Amino acid sequence: MFVSLVLLWLCVFFVILQLWPKRPKNFPPGPPALPILGNILHLRIQNPLEDLERLRKSYGNVYSLFIGPNLAVVINGVKVMKEAIVTKATDFAGRPQDLFINDVTHRKGVILVDYGTSWREHRRFALMTFRNFGLGKKSMEERIHDEIQYIIKTLDKNIGKALSPQVMFHNAASNIICQVLFGTRFEYDDDFIRVTVRCFTEISKITNGPWAMLYDSFSFIRNLPLPFNKAFRNVETMKNLLICLVNEHKKSRVPGEPRHFVDCYLDELEKRPDDPSFSEDQLIMYALDLHFAGTDTTSNTLLTGFLYLMNHPHIQERCQQEIDKVLEGKDRACFEDRHNMPYMQAVIHEVQRIANTVPLSVFHRTTKDTELMGYSLPKGTIIIQNMNSVLEEEGQWKYPHEFNPENFLNDQGEFVKPEAFMPFSAGPRMCLGEGLARMELFLIMVTLLRKFKFIWPEDAGEPDYTPLYGITLSPRPYRMKVQLRLSQ
Ligand code: HEM
Repeated sequence: MFVSLVLLWLCVFFVILQLWPKRPKNFPPGPPALPILGNILHLRIQNPLEDLERLRKSYGNVYSLFIGPNLAVVINGVKVMKEAIVTKATDFAGRPQDLFINDVTHRKGVILVDYGTSWREHRRFALMTFRNFGLGKKSMEERIHDEIQYIIKTLDKNIGKALSPQVMFHNAASNIICQVLFGTRFEYDDDFIRVTVRCFTEISKITNGPWAMLYDSFSFIRNLPLPFNKAFRNVETMKNLLICLVNEHKKSRVPGEPRHFVDCYLDELEKRPDDPSFSEDQLIMYALDLHFAGTDTTSNTLLTGFLYLMNHPHIQERCQQEIDKVLEGKDRACFEDRHNMPYMQAVIHEVQRIANTVPLSVFHRTTKDTELMGYSLPKGTIIIQNMNSVLEEEGQWKYPHEFNPENFLNDQGEFVKPEAFMPFSAGPRMCLGEGLARMELFLIMVTLLRKFKFIWPEDAGEPDYTPLYGITLSPRPYRMKVQLRLSQ
């Protein structure tokens, strides 16, 4: 009896030992992990950012975590970030392929696609389309200015009142990317936008929540009818809407005379009849990717910008003085004007720095066995960029923890961009929409500040700057009071 009990205990002990997560040799250090759960209990799912900072203080700029059974390394600070995603770019340019979100997006599109030919060709295609083509007869700038007129209309209707700008900026960013993709804008109550926004929001929530974590940790639950299935249904809904839209464009297109991104892709498909990586299915997921990536990012950055400018009126006024001087006699701003607006440039960059809009970037993955800061990282290690560790890194900024445009100005008042400014990340996976986003932020902020004064409502109390956590960080909902400016 005693011997059997000892043997049973030995077996149990042996199984636990096998399941106990072990870090490979010379792997970055990290907190002890539990079998199956990994380090889930070290991170608050609702907002892990503070936990990541806390762990950084204990384990340094390169540390490891188990996300369920998967090995992940969190990288912090400019030096580490550059070594990984710039110097050893291709070693770190993969994307994890076995997570919930990969199954939801069918491993198509561009954002979550692994490093390889399909990703490379699609990325090159989008960059070329955005850059060369100006997209149809209209330039990108014109499309942005068209949408700004709708923002102005909304603000004009609210002169002297306080409005909630969330929907307005969200709608503007969504419409600009829709103009690029489909040559169309949508009213906010349009079915396409209403359903798409609902689906995106629900997918983001599920992806950030406990069900996705369980899905990643226990592969045997993946086929069960559990709440995460809603994300799969939502993707199907969005795909069906897009298929209808693409079919409409197919009827009206003239091959070789593209009006927008979808037309360009359809032309490309005809040029590559034998290339399996280019397909209509891929186009649908690509359009979803770009719409998703281009909406919350830009709109949350704008919301952060106006929140800070209302509560730093002296900075808002200095922007307006510069805008008035540079644009005197011109009816509207163009992107080139940024070279004559060092202060405005500094303010926009400072907004992006403080907004930390995509706080954990998009997870990378090592494409082969590699090294980082002397540690050995096997192929397949998930890489998590802690963006705040760079955007507020002490020693890199004059005022790392406060909103201050001086962070981007030298002693002569000229605009300078420190190397730690990397809200779009860096290296081969760097944000594909950087050019578009920078143009949007500049034209929207300059045009609105030229025409309106934005005031924090008297009854709004003290502003709360702590953002809400998600794939993107967003300011807490607020109201803004709008006045027409006299001097323009
Ligand atoms: C202020 C606005 C934006 C910010 C802060 C931002 C930030 C980022 C970041 C941090 C990444 C991850 C890079 C990496 O994995 O290393 C990313 C990827 C990406 N972004 Fe943006 N983004 C913005 C706007 C946009 C816009 C407007 C578009 C659409 C045209 C866009 C499209 C993409 C795409 C397609 C990727 C994936 C690139 C790849 O995997 O190769 N982004 N973005």
